[in-house]
Amino acid sequence: MRTLVLIPTYNERANLAGIVGRLRAAVPAADVLVLDDNSPDGTGALADELAAADGQVHVVHRTAKQGLGPAYLAGFDWGLERGYDLLVEMDADGSHQPEQLPALLAVMEREPAVGLVIGSRWVSGGSVVNWPRYRKALSVGANYYTRLLLGMQVHDATAGYRVYRASTLRAMSLREVASQGYCFQVDLTWRTSKDGHQIVEVPIEFVEREVGDSKMSPAIVRESLYRILSWGAKHRLGQARSVVASARRGTMTERWHSL
Ligand code: GDD
Ligand code: MN
Repeated sequence: MRTLVLIPTYNERANLAGIVGRLRAAVPAADVLVLDDNSPDGTGALADELAAADGQVHVVHRTAKQGLGPAYLAGFDWGLERGYDLLVEMDADGSHQPEQLPALLAVMEREPAVGLVIGSRWVSGGSVVNWPRYRKALSVGANYYTRLLLGMQVHDATAGYRVYRASTLRAMSLREVASQGYCFQVDLTWRTSKDGHQIVEVPIEFVEREVGDSKMSPAIVRESLYRILSWGAKHRLGQARSVVASARRGTMTERWHSL
C-alpha cells in the first residue's frame, strides 16, 4: 500500500534531519511530506535540502504558524490528491519512534476493516518516557474528559502518532474541521468513530523530545476543553432525546395494548 508520512514542523531544525533519516531507514517504501509553517529557525530551508537529496521526501511551505490542524489538513489534501492509500501522522521531535511504525502499518495490512490505527500511550504495553508529571496528568485528564463526554472506547484520543486509511479521510467532511491545536486529534478520532470506522490502538513508547520546545500552550488546552465540551453536549443531548423518544414510543405501545 502506498504510504505517506506527514510531519508538521514549527522550529524543528535540530530534529528534522534525524527523524527523516530514521524514518527512511525504518520504512523505506514510505514517502515523507514535511508541513512547515514558515519556521523562523529555518526548518523549511532544511526540509528543502532533504527533499533535493531524496526523491521520496517532499515539502509543503505554509505562510505562517496556523496550528497543527490546518497543517495536517493541507497534508491530507496533498496526499489524497496523489492517491496514497495510507496517511501517517508523526511528530518531528522524536517522540514518535519511526522504528515502531511497521507495527502500526501491519494492522492496516492485516485488517482491511480498520479505518484508523492509533499509536497509543495509554493501553497495556504503551508508555511515556521523560514526561514531567504535569504533562502526564494533562494527557490522562484530557483522555478521561474526552471519554466522559464523547463515550468513545479509545484510550489515547489525543495521540499524534496514527495511520489513517485514505478511505476514512475521503468519507469525512474535512472542510468542516475547525480545530486548530492538538484537539484536532480528538476531532478526527470522533469523526472517524461517528462514521462507524473501526479504530485499533497499538501500544507505543512515547519519548519526550531532547531538543527544542513543545508548542503546547494554555490556548491549546482551552480550545480542547471548549470544543470537546461542545461536541459532548451535542452528543449527550442526542442520546437523551432518543431515550425520551423510545420511552414515549414504549408508552404508546403500552396504551395500544391496553386498548
Ligand atoms: N506546521 C506546524 N504548525 N507544526 C506544528 C505546529 C504548528 O502550528 N504546532 C506544533 N507543530 C509540530 C511540532 O513541530 C511537532 O513536530 C509536532 O507538531 C508536535 O508538537 P509538540 O509541541 O512537540 O507537541 P507535544 O509533544 O507537546 O504534544 C504531544 O501531545 C499532543 C497532544 O496530546 C504529542 O503527543 C502530540 O502528538 C499530541 O497531539
Ligand atoms: Mn513533542
